[in-house]
Amino acid sequence: MEKQSRNSFTGSLGFVLAAAGSAVGLGNIWRFPYLAAKDGGGLFLLVYLVLALTFGFTLLTTEIAIGRKTKQSPLTAYHQVKKGWNWLGVVACIVPMMIMPYYCVIGGWVLKYFITFATGHMEEAATDSFFTGFITNQTDSTLMMAIFLLIVAVIIFMGVNAGIENISKVMMPILLVLVIGITIFCMTLKYEDGGVVRTGLQGFQILVVPELKGITLSSFFTVVLDAMGQLFYSLSVAMGIMIAYGSYVKDDASLAASINQIEIFDTAVAFLAGVMIIPAVFVFMGKEGMSAGPSLMFVSLPKIFVQMGALGRIIGSIFFLMVLFAAITSAMSILEAIVSSLMDQFHLERQSATILECIMALVVGIIVCLGYNSLYFEVKLPNGSVAQILDIMDYISNNILMPVVAIGTCILIGWVVGPKVVLDEVEKTGKKLGRRGLYVVMIKFVAPILLLVLLLKSLGILTII
Ligand code: PHE
Repeated sequence: MEKQSRNSFTGSLGFVLAAAGSAVGLGNIWRFPYLAAKDGGGLFLLVYLVLALTFGFTLLTTEIAIGRKTKQSPLTAYHQVKKGWNWLGVVACIVPMMIMPYYCVIGGWVLKYFITFATGHMEEAATDSFFTGFITNQTDSTLMMAIFLLIVAVIIFMGVNAGIENISKVMMPILLVLVIGITIFCMTLKYEDGGVVRTGLQGFQILVVPELKGITLSSFFTVVLDAMGQLFYSLSVAMGIMIAYGSYVKDDASLAASINQIEIFDTAVAFLAGVMIIPAVFVFMGKEGMSAGPSLMFVSLPKIFVQMGALGRIIGSIFFLMVLFAAITSAMSILEAIVSSLMDQFHLERQSATILECIMALVVGIIVCLGYNSLYFEVKLPNGSVAQILDIMDYISNNILMPVVAIGTCILIGWVVGPKVVLDEVEKTGKKLGRRGLYVVMIKFVAPILLLVLLLKSLGILTII
């Protein structure tokens, strides 16, 4: 009965744009460029691309196929694949529940920057104390988080077609046009600094030319693990999302084609974000500016927009609007993974499930915001970084639970039920999966081993590489 009443995307385009909307997020725009700059430019791009076509492709295919085959949410799908495996569904559902509150907190930051730029207060946003001043201001950061959460909640409230599909069909094409526009603009930048002229094209070279000087085996491994961690966050796998979205794909749609398109979309936007940010940072701040790391988007970029003069306000507003769209479509997918799970497991109505989860996310989100003020503390994580509440939640979900879900999924499909289950589902419309043999080798051997290494490294157990 459940199978007939389940919603579905009206066509492949709706599915691809929704899944790409989930995949394209803060990870592509903010994390990918600084990792690329840190990890040897073209070398990182190359490793990332190879991993995307092998490792990323395998995980994405598996989750979408599990979703469509079972027509279930993450919480209930694993059990349908194999009795006794519901524990994996539970973990896969805890991940989005952990991510939702803090993703909304960061979404609130983006909203704040967009409002600040759009209302003409760009200079303020570029001062050194603006970012810290904002996140330590409890009322302001909580308010922004709540508004962001409300926007996302309204979309999920409207359901799969009117909400997720329609919003993705509007936001994703706009996002693509904005990214391409800003990228072209950034390539034409030029700036004279103490007699030296730096150009956007030189910055582009830093991004694409592999920096092989001084590379050792262990630094190469760091590049591989960075690329892998980034990839699997970027494709939104290992947190139930692609299972939830896959469950809304009609049986006659070709999965193979959609999977390729999602991957291309995600990788293209990540690359374009690199081409947009690296040259801009290089032109105005030189090579040193690129080592800013995580603070790149909220601290360095506003300064760069100010340097662009009057045009900076427009480019800055467009930039933060685009990031806001990327964050909204990603947050939508996180919320949908949870809401669909609550609906399938507890037979709740969509509306009540959405309200329930949003209240929980709001409460935890407020605690995350307070983590920069009255609940401030510093903890050293096993991977060496100093963390507040947001970073701790991010660490547990991304570095521990997600690899666990991904390893569990590889074992379940690769060894317990066999890759044929996924391959048959993907190929049931008659269209063969292009990288069939590769898929089998990846899901059985390469992916679980790579994931285990990633997990051990995050736990601080593996320190040699
Ligand atoms: N894939 C998104 C990105 O690249 C991030 C994301 C994380 C989306 C968690 C959904 C859930 O930023």
